[in-house]
Amino acid sequence: MPVRNPKPEELEAIERPTTSRDELQALQSERLKWSLKHAYEHVPHYRQAFDAAGIHPNDVHGLEDLAKFPFTSKQTLRDHYPFGLFAVPREQVVRIHASSGTTGKPTVVGYTRKDIDTWATVVARSIRAAGGRAGDIVHVAYGYGLFTGGLGAHYGAEKLGCTVIPVSGGHTEKQVQLIQDFKPSIIMVTPSYMLRLIEEFARQGLDAKASSLKVGIFGAEPWTEGMRADVEARAGMDAVDIYGLSEVMGPGVASECIESKDGPVIWEDHFYPEVIDPKTGAVLPDGELGELVLTSLTKEAFPVIRYRTHDLTRLLPPTSRSMRRMDKITGRSDDMLIIRGVNVFPTQIEELVLKCSELAPYYLIHVSRSGDLDQVQVDVEAAADCGDVVAACSAGATRLGHLVKSYVGITVKVNALPPGSLDRSEGKAKHVIDTRPRRN
Ligand code: DLL
Repeated sequence: MPVRNPKPEELEAIERPTTSRDELQALQSERLKWSLKHAYEHVPHYRQAFDAAGIHPNDVHGLEDLAKFPFTSKQTLRDHYPFGLFAVPREQVVRIHASSGTTGKPTVVGYTRKDIDTWATVVARSIRAAGGRAGDIVHVAYGYGLFTGGLGAHYGAEKLGCTVIPVSGGHTEKQVQLIQDFKPSIIMVTPSYMLRLIEEFARQGLDAKASSLKVGIFGAEPWTEGMRADVEARAGMDAVDIYGLSEVMGPGVASECIESKDGPVIWEDHFYPEVIDPKTGAVLPDGELGELVLTSLTKEAFPVIRYRTHDLTRLLPPTSRSMRRMDKITGRSDDMLIIRGVNVFPTQIEELVLKCSELAPYYLIHVSRSGDLDQVQVDVEAAADCGDVVAACSAGATRLGHLVKSYVGITVKVNALPPGSLDRSEGKAKHVIDTRPRRN
């Protein structure tokens, strides 16, 4: 796929880089007032929460007034399980999605017909930002079902006018065969499952670089610049980042432009971003690292006001589009490990694994407690093409141990294993097993 700047007429007017900040903010402000009023009038929870905070949608004069409203959390969704936060009669909800969560009840979200169309529009924009155009063949390997990845990608690709192959996750051998036979130019998949697919190409005696795939639209889990470089080199494609969460919509809340690859552009005309200090809740200026908070501006069935995502990032100025970008996500505040007092994100370990040419980009971090001390073991694998496995394991383990000590500042035991030893993921990968007793 040739990387080129899109012609202005290929973009919606609001996303064109020539659209002024004033124009965008005027639209956001008008939509924000509508969304706050809609939530207040139709969702008892929001009415109570706004009343308790002593703030009314009529008090909103500009975007800065949003900071006076209370946050919404995952717990709010759980407390109103399943349909208690819907702002329209259930009969007008044409689709339900849910995220399973590891414990307790799933969080449930709903969409009106118009919401589904809005979602398809932002995903279509996202695919176009990745270089896709009408007529392209798009292989969707995000899971279909209650997870928003598959159907979200699907409707967006159709809306753009692409030919969609709705493969979903799993059946890895068949995925590769379908890519060989149908020749898609775009794949939408988690980055960890892309690694598994690249491996499967090799297992079948094929070179992923020679496949028809030119662009990967990767998201649903944190992934690093090191991973981008690795996948681009091994699959001969451009890799771009798509972000989203079911509570706010699904994939396509933000997505990266292929011509700049400088972090996902937040489709701010539909989702208003703030970054807050996770401890105090104070709104931080653009450029400062904190927790992303999102407010829906146009959603009918399930408006969310100041939803705390727990995703850590910062807001960056617009480049390829009129709208602000977010930095690639470092991790979630609830994924942060505190090891002997040091804050560690799994993505930091990923970056370092990718610096070791003897190792493959698969890793599993085990955290345990022995007496009063946190212990960390990192399981990794020797690279498939490393030659002498024993030598690669030994060299890779030593190298990774040193890198973690010097960059992260903690001592870890590295357990390097032969290629293929660790479980592969067909969706979001699990990188941490923490067996320490929970502190209350
Ligand atoms: O993962 C939606 C999605 C599907 C996004 C396909 C992109 C592609 P949830 O299952 O609700 O929704 O999980 C949302 O996943 O809060 C982040 O922590 C993480 N996440 C999603 N995209 C990215 C990304 C989907 N590009 C949670 N980078 C979010 C880092 C991501 N983390």
